[in-house]
Amino acid sequence: MGGMTARDGGTTGICCGRVVAVTGAGRGLGRAHALAFAAEGARVVVNDLGAGPDGAGSSAAPAHEVAAEIRARGGEAVVHDGDIATAQGAASLVATALEAFGRLDTVVNNAGFLRDRMLVNLDEDDWNAVLRVHLTGHFLPLRYAAAHWRAETRAGRAPDARIVNTTSGAGLLGSVGQGNYAAAKAGIVGLTLVAAAELARYGVRVNAVAPAARTRMTEAVFAETMAAPAAGAFDAMAPDNVSPLVVWLGSAASAGVTGRVFEAEGGRVTVMEGWRPGPTADRGARWTPAQAGEAAVRLLAAAEPPGRVYGARAEGE
Ligand SMILES: NC(=O)c1ccc[n+]([C@@H]2O[C@H](COP(=O)([O-])OP(=O)(O)OC[C@H]3O[C@@H](n4cnc5c(N)ncnc54)[C@H](O)[C@@H]3O)[C@@H](O)[C@H]2O)c1
Repeated sequence: MGGMTARDGGTTGICCGRVVAVTGAGRGLGRAHALAFAAEGARVVVNDLGAGPDGAGSSAAPAHEVAAEIRARGGEAVVHDGDIATAQGAASLVATALEAFGRLDTVVNNAGFLRDRMLVNLDEDDWNAVLRVHLTGHFLPLRYAAAHWRAETRAGRAPDARIVNTTSGAGLLGSVGQGNYAAAKAGIVGLTLVAAAELARYGVRVNAVAPAARTRMTEAVFAETMAAPAAGAFDAMAPDNVSPLVVWLGSAASAGVTGRVFEAEGGRVTVMEGWRPGPTADRGARWTPAQAGEAAVRLLAAAEPPGRVYGARAEGE
């Protein structure tokens, strides 16, 4: 961390001078992002509620541990241990950045947990809890940060702000046993598109990343994929592999990029190309249901087949 000063954050690195809030930064991917931002010179607000894997309970310890790690490496960090899926928690996240460091440049929305069930067994609580932490937990920090950047714009200080959201392959392709989570993560993509369009006038760029990494969320369920490699080999599933793209998207360097979705995993970065019109037919008049069906079958034959839903069996299996 050459060049880092205790008071001003880093003096080198692509996030030098920036203040970055990362939600769910006490563990897993959020922790890796927070450390990577600090290593690039950012001052960091480390948010984490310290919730259990299913969202139960809370503890300030994980956030304090990560803030201490950043400081031990010569960086600057403060802790916010509130629930980002509440208005109070999200507003105080923004306030913490302003009180501690006098500014806020980047919000990385990352916090979340799982309550996996097949749809027929998914009860309302498990639906609501997962929608709340991911979708509301993205909306509220985004909303309070955006209100701050609008005020900055109106005060004549042109923000160069960034929001990096966290979606998932489950939200992009679907995932068996994760109806609540897939719906929330797909919703985050829609939110990203709207925010990019609405907030451009306040200097805010908004993008989303779908990561894959070994964390407590994945290490048991996908044990084989997530296994650590033999000593010395590239650890493709280390969460730290996702952070470089997140840091770049959270830096001033990504100025021209907004409303985009990336996958990041191991040494690979992929731009995801979203919904767009495929084969189409226009009768110039109302179809009968039978005609609409014939047209649909014809168009489907000419269309790209969809990607396989994660965990779904191919037909005939
Ligand atoms: N690990 C993967 O392969 C993977 C894949 C796709 C998407 N994701 C997404 O990446 C993000 C990070 O997941 P992870 O794998 O690092 O999991 P993780 O469980 O290691 O970390 C999530 C953190 O969020 C915190 N948190 C939960 N609810 C909170 C709340 N209300 N307020 C503040 N903090 C809260 C938890 O305490 C935890 O420390 C999640 O949005 C997840 O859905 C992960």
